[in-house]
Amino acid sequence: MKNIIPIACDHGGFAMKQYLVERLKERGYEVKDYGTYSEESVDYPDYIHPIAQDIQDGVYPLGIILCGSGNGAQMTANKHPNVRAALCWNVELGKLARQHNNANILTLPGRFIENELAWEIVQAYLTTDFEGGRHSKRVEKINLK
Ligand code: RB5
Repeated sequence: MKNIIPIACDHGGFAMKQYLVERLKERGYEVKDYGTYSEESVDYPDYIHPIAQDIQDGVYPLGIILCGSGNGAQMTANKHPNVRAALCWNVELGKLARQHNNANILTLPGRFIENELAWEIVQAYLTTDFEGGRHSKRVEKINLK
């Protein structure tokens, strides 16, 4: 299951999603593509809530979402209580999102970084484990009771 990567975006993240889907497939991952499927303007919650719900429900352990800035996508995904979506724009942030925050969704800003960098971030994110330890109790405190 860990080798199936779900991915979703709005029109602002569409071009980068297409690039990442190809890179992921080349690398041997299966991809579950939640759309959007063109540059036509759409509302990001319509595409982000379905993938976030599947992460919430444990269908997939890790996912990737994109919009133009990354902010709208991340805000939407984080409305799901078991989702921890991290907005990352460099490789170190991609690693830290896993090591320290156990982020289960990587959020990328499709209009603000180059595709090649996005792919480096994705690889770092997908291959880095949560460190646990002192970070576990912090992550456990994120949700309001
Ligand atoms: C779409 O124009 C843009 O607002 C969206 O992709 C995203 O940046 C929202 O946060």
